[in-house]
Amino acid sequence: MKIQAIRGVKDIMPDEVEKWRWVENKADQVFTRYGFKEIRLPIFEKTKLFSRGIGETTDIVEKEMYTFEDRGGEKVTLRPEGTASVVRAFIEHKMYASQTVHKFYYLGPMFRYERPQAGRFRQFYQIGVEAMGSHNPSIDAEVMTMLMDFFNILGLNQFELQINSLGCDKCRPEYREALKKSITSHLSDLCENCNKRYQKNPLRVLDCKVERDIEIASGLPKITEHICNECKYHFEKVQALLSEAMVPYSINSRLVRGLDYYTHTAFEIISDELGAQNAICGGGRYNTLVEEFEGPSTPCFGFALGLERLIFLVPFDKVEGIENNPDVFVVPLGEEAESRVFNLIHQLRSGGLSVERDYDGGSMKSQMRKANKSASRFALIIGENEIKSGNYQLKNMQDGKQSNITAASCVEEIKTLINKKI
Ligand code: HAM
Repeated sequence: MKIQAIRGVKDIMPDEVEKWRWVENKADQVFTRYGFKEIRLPIFEKTKLFSRGIGETTDIVEKEMYTFEDRGGEKVTLRPEGTASVVRAFIEHKMYASQTVHKFYYLGPMFRYERPQAGRFRQFYQIGVEAMGSHNPSIDAEVMTMLMDFFNILGLNQFELQINSLGCDKCRPEYREALKKSITSHLSDLCENCNKRYQKNPLRVLDCKVERDIEIASGLPKITEHICNECKYHFEKVQALLSEAMVPYSINSRLVRGLDYYTHTAFEIISDELGAQNAICGGGRYNTLVEEFEGPSTPCFGFALGLERLIFLVPFDKVEGIENNPDVFVVPLGEEAESRVFNLIHQLRSGGLSVERDYDGGSMKSQMRKANKSASRFALIIGENEIKSGNYQLKNMQDGKQSNITAASCVEEIKTLINKKI
C-alpha cells in the first residue's frame, strides 16, 4: 500500500531545514533585541476560541478550520493562527496583573483547509509576534520597523509595506453603513461571494480579488475618510514614526485583513515575487480581543509571517555559513584501521567536531568519493602504513594538500587545526 502525504501538506527535508533554522535563528536574534520572548502554545484548542476570536463570518471559521470531536466529545480545532491562543494564555496566566507591556513571539505550524496552490498550504508555518498592553502608536511603528530590520538581515529587498486604519468600535459602524449603502447600487455587478459578504461582512468586499470587483471597490468610500479623530490621530502618528525611521510604506485603503479582530492600524507586507499568494506577512492592532474573552481591557498589536513564503524569498546563495558540513571524514583502510576508527570518531565527536564516515568501507577511491560528496573540510586517512608509522594522513579537501598528523595526539591536533572552542 503506497501512502503519500496529505494534499497541501509537505515535508521539510534536511537541506531545507538548514535554511529554516537559519531564518528562525535570525528572527530570534532580532525579536529578542526588541524585547519579544518566545511562547510555546498548544497546536489545538477549543473550537470556540477560534470561532469567537477570529470571527464567525470569516472564511477561516466558515470554511477552513480542521475541527473534530475528541474522544471525550469536546469540539477541538487545529489552530489556524496564533493570536487567539496568545490571548487565551495571556488571560489564563493573568499576565495582565503586572501592568507592563508583554511581548511574545511564537513559531510553529498552523492549519487551514484552503485550496492548495503555489505558496498556499493546508499545514503552513508562521512566526508571529504579539505586543500586549499599550495604546501607544510607537508600538505599531516599532513592530513594523522590527520587521524591516529582520528582512534587511535576511537580504530581502523586493517587498512593499502597506498600511491602513480600520477604525474602532466607535467609528466603524458608521463607516460600515456608508459602505453598505454605496455597495447596494453595485450588487448585480459584484461576484456571488461579495453579495454574501455585503450582508454579513461588507468590509470584505473591499479586498475581493475578482477584477471587476476591484474596479468597483476603488470607487467605494474609503475608511480613512470616515474614522474618528482618535483613530485619525493614531494613524497619523504611526505614519510619522515610520517616516522618522525611514521605513517606506504606502496606504492601501482596501486593506481590511481576513480576520475580524482588528481595530486601528492594519498592515500587510507583499511581494510581487510570490505570485498570486503575495502576502509575506500581515497584522495590526486588536484592542478589544482580550476583553471579548473576559480579560481586562488590553490594547494589542501583532503580526504573523508565513515561513514558506519568507524562505522562498531569501537569497540563500548570498548567505554564508548555512551548511552544516562535517569537519572531518574518516577513511579507514583495512581491518586494523577499521578496529581503531570507532573509538577515534567517538573521541573527535566528544571533542566537539562533526565527523562522518562511510559505514560500508570499501576502497580508498570509493571512500574518498564519499568524503568529497559530504563536503567535509578534512579527510583523515588511516591505512596499514599509517598505523605502522604512527602518523595518519590529513587531507585538506579544499586545496587537496595532505600532511602527517601524529596518531597519538590526532584528536587534539585536529581540534586545534579546525580552531573550534569547545
Ligand atoms: P494571516 O494574514 O491570516 O494573519 O496570516 C499571516 C501570514 O501567514 C500570511 O501573510 C501568509 O504569509 C501566511 N499564510 C496564511 N495562510 C497561509 C497558507 N494557507 N499557506 C501558507 N501561508 C499562509 C494571521 O494569522 C494573524 N494571526 C496575524 C496577526 C498576529 N495579527 C495580529 N497578530
